Amino acid sequence: MFKVVVKDTYEEVSSEAFKVMKEVLSQDKPVLGLATGSSPVGLYKKMIADHNSNGTSYKDILTWNLDEYVGIPRSHDQSYWTFMHENLFDHIDIPDENVHVPLGETDDLEASCKAYEESMEGHQIDLQVLGIGSDGHIAFNEPGTPFDSLTHVMDLTEQTRKDNARFFGDDISQVPTQAVTMGLASIMKAKKIIVIATGANKAEAVKGMLQGPVTTDCPASILQNHPDVCVFLDKEAASLL
Ligand code: GLP
Repeated sequence: MFKVVVKDTYEEVSSEAFKVMKEVLSQDKPVLGLATGSSPVGLYKKMIADHNSNGTSYKDILTWNLDEYVGIPRSHDQSYWTFMHENLFDHIDIPDENVHVPLGETDDLEASCKAYEESMEGHQIDLQVLGIGSDGHIAFNEPGTPFDSLTHVMDLTEQTRKDNARFFGDDISQVPTQAVTMGLASIMKAKKIIVIATGANKAEAVKGMLQGPVTTDCPASILQNHPDVCVFLDKEAASLL
């Protein structure tokens, strides 16, 4: 079931998302599912500000991230490991051992996917943060991904690689061709989910997620089957609803 909130600015969208986060942070030892991309950055800024001003502590919080590029080391400036440290982890008091990000550079990707999925067992995610790709992907589950998928290796679509080229000096040849991603079934296990989407290039995907048929052509449409999803949009992303 969806609750949809539409706001004028990215700042307001992030504030609304933060209200939900704050509520979850007030629970005993919450488990967070975190996302990369530009969409959640405003939310992370608010979490950092709240940590600094109100002393909200992350010492007892566990996090699992959605995905990571294959073939680049954690130290790479565009790895999702680096992204999460720069945009959140380095600015709050979360212990290193509480943070989980899939490994994109390893000899045995299959074993690493299995180990990642197993690491989540017994830790239901209380709040999963999501963005959405312009092709309707969530995490890196591209169109066609089975709804029962767990953590797996995904070939990235041309569209996704184009969208993400801006982080690689606008050079698509530098964008990895594969990623390790939590699967759609892994994501659906979360107790509560928030989706943040802004800008006209997300309008089609947002419409598919909320109002289209539940189909693997639009992976985000599976969220129609989840009991508790809040969607935070600006007017451009909501323009086709
Ligand atoms: C990336 C990530 C997704 C993210 C999406 C949108 O490829 N793997 O988790 O939601 O694309 O990114 P952005 O928020 O930058 O538009």
